[in-house]
Amino acid sequence: MIELAPSILAANFAHLADQVERAAAGGGSVIHVDIMDGHFVPNLTIGPPVVKSLRQATRLPLDCHLMIENPDQYIAEFAEAGADWISVHQEACRHLNRTLNLIKQHECRAGVVINPATPVETLSEVLDIVDYVLVMSVNPGFGGQKFIPATLHKMRKLAEIRAARGYQFRIEVDGGVGMDTVAEVVRAGAEILVAGNAVFGKGDAKVNAQALLEAARSASLQRV
Ligand code: DX5
Ligand code: ZN
Repeated sequence: MIELAPSILAANFAHLADQVERAAAGGGSVIHVDIMDGHFVPNLTIGPPVVKSLRQATRLPLDCHLMIENPDQYIAEFAEAGADWISVHQEACRHLNRTLNLIKQHECRAGVVINPATPVETLSEVLDIVDYVLVMSVNPGFGGQKFIPATLHKMRKLAEIRAARGYQFRIEVDGGVGMDTVAEVVRAGAEILVAGNAVFGKGDAKVNAQALLEAARSASLQRV
């Protein structure tokens, strides 16, 4: 099933509840929340208080993408604030198995994220325990960057491995997903589509979300 996960990073934070509601009205079904610490990535964004407020503003699942060092230190706090899904970067975790299990212990869905330069092979020992794999299609840190086509083969590879080994994880893509790239990410196997600027950048989030989902669904019919 294809799902759209609008990324609030591109929203107007002074009107967050309204913006999320518009994106949901257009079919967005997961709210993607980018957490940056200024260390793992060269930018700062938001923390648990904003997740807590969002929790009261929407019933949709909150997908917290942790772009932070030492994620273990904050997982409990994000879970308590209302995160439903928590993903951590392979590159930030020294004990990835432990961290993923910690997320599950807090009754959240556990995701692992790989940067554009990180191969799928680095995940081979955790693919049986994750609920989703997030393939970054830009270098994390900022919204509005250009999609990196060289990341597409990783989505294909993950879909192949999942079929061959009978795993259950879902495939998410994040970065530069818009009307010009949505069809190719879907054809490569992405199922959860994060989009920031393409939803909240220009115009109405409802109309933008509807257009993206429509393009994604028609591309999914062309999957081979
Ligand atoms: C980038 C973030 C993304 C970002 C995507 O580090 O992880 O979620 O919001 O923004 P767009 O869709 O504008 O590339
Ligand atoms: Zn993200």
